[in-house]
Amino acid sequence: MGETNRSDSAVNVAMRAETVAVTGGRPAGSGQSLNHPIHLASNFRHGAPGGRDYSRADGTDSTHALETTVAALESAEEALAFGSGMAAVSAVFDLMPTGAGILAPADCYQGVAAVLDHGVEHLGWNVTRLATADTERWLEAIQTTKPDLVWVESPSNPLLTIADVPAICTVASQQGALVAVDNTFATPLLQRPLTLGATFSVHSATKFMGGHSDLLAGVVAVADQSVADRLRQRRTLTGANIGALEAFLVLRGLRTLPVRLRHSQASAVELAKRLQASSTVTAVHYPGLPEHPGFELAERTLDGPGAVLSFETVGSGADTDRALQSLDVIVAATSLGGVETTADRRARLVGQESMPESLVRLSIGCEHVDDIWADLVKVLELLSRNK
Ligand SMILES: Cc1ncc(COP(=O)(O)O)c(C=O)c1O
Repeated sequence: MGETNRSDSAVNVAMRAETVAVTGGRPAGSGQSLNHPIHLASNFRHGAPGGRDYSRADGTDSTHALETTVAALESAEEALAFGSGMAAVSAVFDLMPTGAGILAPADCYQGVAAVLDHGVEHLGWNVTRLATADTERWLEAIQTTKPDLVWVESPSNPLLTIADVPAICTVASQQGALVAVDNTFATPLLQRPLTLGATFSVHSATKFMGGHSDLLAGVVAVADQSVADRLRQRRTLTGANIGALEAFLVLRGLRTLPVRLRHSQASAVELAKRLQASSTVTAVHYPGLPEHPGFELAERTLDGPGAVLSFETVGSGADTDRALQSLDVIVAATSLGGVETTADRRARLVGQESMPESLVRLSIGCEHVDDIWADLVKVLELLSRNK
């Protein structure tokens, strides 16, 4: 890797996450800008041995600054940035050989489920899907099937189910299995899977890390250098790299992630309680509610319940779609983790047909909680006519 104009990668790991988010990946030295300019480069002049040669293999100042910051936040040996969350997900699955044994959640992001289905059909993968919260089944399946990879998503999308990540990691490591945790919903601020024993912490950085619904990006943080080397080799071969602009923007998003998440999470806690008290709402899925089956596990494994929740109501899916048209502040949109609150009725999506038809996933943004609630009250009033 080149030596020129490098970011100060030696982030002090003793610093708190808020400080790492603000200071990570800064150029060092007097006269430097506070952040790297967007480093648009593919080709590098030949120079010192080990210097940068070509950015698909060696990255740029923009990608390096992002990766060192995420690595520090995740307590990782190394983090690698990708062109999307799915590119990051696929890079991990690409390490699996033909005929690999894989354990994965029954309730997970539908893109991951599609990668698993593809592997079963074309690569002879032996995939077992388990209910996220059924820890006993996970531990038993790891011991009996001796998988190559255990894939966990916690909190899960869209049911906010919590997995016992530490227990799964302990038993997986006894059996020599790799463990990947999709940490998109928690972010490294609320959960650091590598410190719980996982091999990979995978993110759609499109969501909370980027935080402004204006880019696609992914990151994989890894605890082990040899695994990082294998991932980088895959990324170089597939060319699934992140662009310089996106890397710059994700790092800029990270600067404010602690503040955004604190605000959004506090609103999510309040909104979950208000939704629970509504007679039109039949279920609220949020690990910050004491009634949630994963509440105690979430208290143990997460530093907070996060800013995503989902709820079910009276009425049909079509009733919900009609009611969501009355939203003013909340945006009816599929993605999450931005500064704006979004609502998505998940069963309308291909691959999510098994979800309860009225289930709406809310990603809480940075608006005032009462303005978000006023919008939800309108939706609930419309739906209450179906009681
Ligand atoms: C939990 C989770 N993982 C991975 C992804 C894929 O990320 P991307 O859309 O950035 O490719 C998503 C996207 O919604 C997601 O919600």
